[in-house]
Formats: sequence, structure tokens, C-alpha cells
Amino acid sequence: MRKMILDCDPGHDDAVAIILVGNNPEFELLGITVESGNQTLKKTGRNALNLVQFLELDVPVCLGATNPIIKEVEICDAIHGESGLDGFDFPELKIDFDSRHAVDFIIQSVMNSTEKITMVTTGPMTNLALAIRMEPRILDNIEEVVLMGGSFQNGNVTPAAEFNVYCDPEAAHIVFNSNVKVTMVGLDVTRKVLTYPAIIERMEKVNNHVSDMFVKLMKVFNENQKRVFGFEGSPLHDPVTIAYLIDPTLLEVVFVHCDIDISHSTSYGRTNCDIFDYLKLEKNIYVAKDIDVKKFWNIIEDSLKRY
Ligand code: RIB
Ligand code: CA
Repeated sequence: MRKMILDCDPGHDDAVAIILVGNNPEFELLGITVESGNQTLKKTGRNALNLVQFLELDVPVCLGATNPIIKEVEICDAIHGESGLDGFDFPELKIDFDSRHAVDFIIQSVMNSTEKITMVTTGPMTNLALAIRMEPRILDNIEEVVLMGGSFQNGNVTPAAEFNVYCDPEAAHIVFNSNVKVTMVGLDVTRKVLTYPAIIERMEKVNNHVSDMFVKLMKVFNENQKRVFGFEGSPLHDPVTIAYLIDPTLLEVVFVHCDIDISHSTSYGRTNCDIFDYLKLEKNIYVAKDIDVKKFWNIIEDSLKRY
């Protein structure tokens, strides 16, 4: 089993990442750590608790950074709504957060583990970056970091930058320069897995309480993406990270030099991936270039069916 910590900012697509990892026998999910991003920490934290309770997961949820390391919080309520997870009415919350701060949880879990831990981040990388700065020795016991974020093409918040990296470029800079194995699952592939109505109809046929939640959340996600971007289906960004760990053949990945633009120019927060190796700089990041879309939706459907 792969030991994993999922760091996220639920978020509709983060919710699907939690669905995927929550009951997969290949993973030992040690904990879910949360930060601000799609919404404020108060809301992303509550959303994570609601999901853990609804999915009946025996997993600690630890609150983390309220703000990025340097920048102020920039939420994404246009897409994820006032609650950060609009579209589904969860039952009354009966569980509470773990008392440990997310950064302490990451440090303690990694330092005390007899096996290496995989860090998956699907929000801004603030918690992981702070953990690396507070206790750099965790890098010796992290198998790899798989993140949803960045793009070697266009951004989705500015022409240059993708939301998770744009929220906290300095955090991404710390992680990308930490010499741990980093696999970047960016917009280049996540924009190819779109929750078209036909996909929603397919998942509705699974006909259990989790597929019902998936359908209701995706319908609101679609409405918001249509209004903001004109998309007929929403890019289901975050679960691509987990799907890749379930089946590494899902993605075509290339090893390149990549650095984060922290220059405060109009490219602030860009993941500068040297896909064609123009600069002949030392390669440091694995970047997803393509995705098997059919395989992805099969993984989503299989995961929903297991609940
Ligand atoms: O740019 C997409 C990312 O930003 C996803 O993780 C989504 O949840 C938002 O956090
Ligand atoms: Ca997210």
C-alpha cells in the first residue's frame, strides 16, 4: 500500500480526489491537510470534514495555512461558490478537526513513518512548503510529490499562471527547488477531462449515495464553469493526481527543467517548463504532457462503484 497525505482546498474537484483516494485499497491515506484557496480556510476545512464524514473515512483532517506565504488570500468563489462546495447538502456535521496544525501533522507523519510517504497536493502548496522549511529532513522520507498545478501552456487565472501556483508562487518555488521527486499535473492534461453532460449521465447510473453527491456537485461545477469560461463541461483537475497514482499509464510524463516565476511581473506564478530543453538547464520536474481520457473516466466510475 502507498502511504499518502492529501493536501487540498475543497473545492469540487478536490472532493473527487478525496472520493478516489478514500476507499482505494492501494492507498493508506494518513490524513487530509487543508489550506485556503478555492475558499477561505474556514470553508475549505468544513468542506473537508463534511466529505470525510459523508464518505465514512477514518482519516484525520488538519487545518493549515490561512494565508499564502507572501500573498493575500485570493479565493475562487466564482467557480466553487459561497461555501466552496456548492451543490450538495451534507448531513449535520458530527466530527471535528484533528488538533494538530497541518504543517505539524505533515512533519510528524513523515518523520515517524517507517516507509516513505507520497504527498499529493491539489491546492496551493503553502502547507507543504512551510513543512519543508520547518523540517527539511522530511524530504528524505517523501517518496514523491504529485501536485495538481501549473501549466506549460496558458494559465487559468492570468495568461501565464494556474490558480494553485498563482495563489502561492513562493510555496511552489520552495517545493519545486527541494530536490524531491515532483510530478506536475497541470492544466495541459486536466483541461482534457471535462465533465460533459454525457459523463454526468454515465456516473448517475452508478446509483449510490456517492455518485449522487458527485452528480449534484458536478452540475453546479458545470454551471459555474459555463458562466465564467463558457465551458460545456468542467475540467476535473484534482483527481487526475490520484488517478495517475492508481494507474501510472494514465499520463505521458516528461522530465524537464521548470522554475516558478516569482518576479512579480505579469508572469508571476507561471510554471516555466522548458519542454523543448531550449536552455539546457538541469532537469528537475516531471511534467504531464498527455492523458488517456477514456482510462480516466473508467477510474472515476470504478471508484464511485466501490462505495
Ligand atoms: O487550477 C485548478 C486548481 O485550482 C484546482 O485544484 C482547483 O480545485 C483550484 O484549486
Ligand atoms: Ca483544488
